[in-house]
Amino acid sequence: MAVKKLTIPDIVGRKQGPPLSMLTVYDYAWARIADQAGVDMVLVGDSLGMVMLGYNGTVAVTMDDMTHHCRAVARGVEHALVVVDLPFGSVNGAHEAVANATRLIKEGGADAVKLEGGKDMAEIAAALVRAGIPVQGHVGLTPQTAVSLGGFKVQGKDAKAARQLVDAALAMQEAGCFSVLMEAIPAPLAAEITARLSVPTVGIGAGNQCDGQVLVMHDLLGLYDRFVPKFVKQYAKLGEIATEAIQEYVKDVAERRFPGPEHSFAMKDEELQALLADLK
Ligand code: KIV
Repeated sequence: MAVKKLTIPDIVGRKQGPPLSMLTVYDYAWARIADQAGVDMVLVGDSLGMVMLGYNGTVAVTMDDMTHHCRAVARGVEHALVVVDLPFGSVNGAHEAVANATRLIKEGGADAVKLEGGKDMAEIAAALVRAGIPVQGHVGLTPQTAVSLGGFKVQGKDAKAARQLVDAALAMQEAGCFSVLMEAIPAPLAAEITARLSVPTVGIGAGNQCDGQVLVMHDLLGLYDRFVPKFVKQYAKLGEIATEAIQEYVKDVAERRFPGPEHSFAMKDEELQALLADLK
């Protein structure tokens, strides 16, 4: 049966529910698994800098990195909307932002881009939307500028900072964003923003009153243990399962239990004898 590909209007329509599920993926195999498991949106997040490339943050991630991973993900997805992060340094001015976002759509195969930033990024978002590129805004804790925010900290805790986030989310909606992602903000603030926006909000560390939720796949599956934020729910411990499987393989190899006859190719005895005779 043909699988229906989700579109921007489908995602916007989910403001009325049921809640949207979004998950980061970075390659073909996991994109297929996430897609077949039924997520509504896959995010080729610049968190790939940490979980795939081993950096300490997202700042070093390049347009080439994002395009490369996005292309692999897009090939594995039939149903979900493919959203890709615009990496740090790729949106210095509307012209550059449009050129880079266009590349992620045309070369990377993405359906939409995600743009980090507050009210001052709304003009860039508007330029992208004018160029026909669907944009998801990202407010609250914005990892690309975490240094300026004082680290990976909860944002919007006092009334003044919270008001700035309400204004940022509204500005992103006003700019034409089809959705706004909110990271690491108090649950009541996220609920208030969700109630005030007509486009769906997607939360990560933003409580359960958002219109959807997003998690980093490596966190959900227990594949990354360098840092596990409070808002992560680990649904599996695949890292431990993988370590045990690889340890078993290493032992089997050392003790010549692998490969067994069922994993090996046979040769007709007369051919082997002919070879040995030839080698004498
Ligand atoms: O890059 C990323 O993984 C993100 C998270 C908010 C999910 O942007």
